[in-house]
Amino acid sequence: MLIRRRVNQTFLTGKMADRLDIVIFGATGYTGKYIVKNAAQMCKEKQMKFGIAGRRQEALEAIVKEFVSDTDDIPIILADVKDEASLKKMTERAKILINSCGPYRFYGEPVIKACIATCTHYVDVTGEEEFMQKMQFKYNQAAQEAGVYIINACGFDCIPSDLGIIFTQQKFGGEVNAIEIYLSLSTDTNEKVSILNYATWESAIHSLANIHEQRELRAKLYPTKLPELTPKLKSKGIHRSDASEGWSIPFQSADRSVALRTQRFLYDKYKERPVQVQVYITFKSFFVCLAVTILGMILFLMSRTAYSRNLLLKYPTLFSYGLVGHKNPKLETQKSTHFSMIFKACGWTEKLAEPIDKYTSPLNKKVVTKVSGDSPAYEMTSIVAILSAITILNETDKIPDNGGVFTPGAAFGKTSLIEEMNKHNIKFEVISSIEK
Ligand SMILES: NC(=O)c1ccc[n+]([C@@H]2O[C@H](COP(=O)([O-])OP(=O)(O)OC[C@H]3O[C@@H](n4cnc5c(N)ncnc54)[C@H](OP(=O)(O)O)[C@@H]3O)[C@@H](O)[C@H]2O)c1
Repeated sequence: MLIRRRVNQTFLTGKMADRLDIVIFGATGYTGKYIVKNAAQMCKEKQMKFGIAGRRQEALEAIVKEFVSDTDDIPIILADVKDEASLKKMTERAKILINSCGPYRFYGEPVIKACIATCTHYVDVTGEEEFMQKMQFKYNQAAQEAGVYIINACGFDCIPSDLGIIFTQQKFGGEVNAIEIYLSLSTDTNEKVSILNYATWESAIHSLANIHEQRELRAKLYPTKLPELTPKLKSKGIHRSDASEGWSIPFQSADRSVALRTQRFLYDKYKERPVQVQVYITFKSFFVCLAVTILGMILFLMSRTAYSRNLLLKYPTLFSYGLVGHKNPKLETQKSTHFSMIFKACGWTEKLAEPIDKYTSPLNKKVVTKVSGDSPAYEMTSIVAILSAITILNETDKIPDNGGVFTPGAAFGKTSLIEEMNKHNIKFEVISSIEK
């Protein structure tokens, strides 16, 4: 029944073989341009054909001129998020769509609907957790029936953390109970310059404002609770850790919740023991940690009412301590930024027969791994999004089920994506392994 429906839909929406491999929607945006620049190189290497899409013909032509060699023929497709028919005309031209139109809370859903209607796979680079949960709740079944993969968060949010956990589990050799992740960001310059684009700020502020939606959505997604895992991993406040130099505080990003959805998927599907996760960000001094915590609280409170939220959106430089501006960050600034994520895993040398059995023996193994790279926010994000799209096209047989709305870890855990990222200087490595 499922297969017949898929075949019929594919028939209705044109032959798969005639489609472009990849279409990049939002190609005129700050992130979109990076995706086009890297796709020009990466698709050539893989002998794949890509097109670009957006709502402004002239701007799209300028992108082709700037980033693609004269000899390459790159189709331009016009589509507007507000025009459903134009979206379907765009998505039926692609085997997979890379969507970089954000904030996704405002622009994402119609694009996903069009992809499902035309049997087109989809990846995006959102970091908006409530949007992802809503899409999983509303479209998982429809995506399964259409036989398409809808994978959110295929950028710096949340591939390094989600696949970093999978990598750590794979290298652990035993059973992991819990992982603490420590993110550090650094730049080569001491200048105070903006490193984030305005749309990223806008997405983050709206996410913060609607953080309360997540609990309700989670309850709908997972009506039954997981059994309690012990020993329990507790969240820490400001602290020093042997995993990273400096002081660390809890990091309010989508990384933890995406990772927990991945772990829940792996438990439901393969009966693997879910890993408990906490995510921290590290700064050099205690006072910076304190200042960031206070700033975070101010942003959270201000995001709650329309008036103060508008102030945040109007004056991003002031409220982000210079990290965000209305102007696009410079390319050179991006190049000088680096990230490192340390994964501190604790567990047991032996696996038990039942995944959530209570271990009576004390934890006796520690493994530390690391994921690191350069220019994480946009350059790396664009490379990872393209690699994710290519992986879906080339390794469909290694992705679970026949389709659905997945987290990156759930989708790519058994594919070669980590290997491919290593080849593109996003390094996954084991730092140490100690058994008691
Ligand atoms: N998670 C991560 O690691 C990560 C990294 C980078 C970016 N992001 C996310 O990616 C998103 C985009 O960021 P950005 O900095 O690239 O934003 P941006 O520069 O503002 O680009 C937004 C894009 O959306 C397009 N767009 C807006 N409204 C549209 C409509 N009605 N129809 C068709 N296209 C429309 C814009 O087209 P026009 O040019 O015609 O206006 C533009 O191409 C944000 O949500 C950001 O948070 C996430």
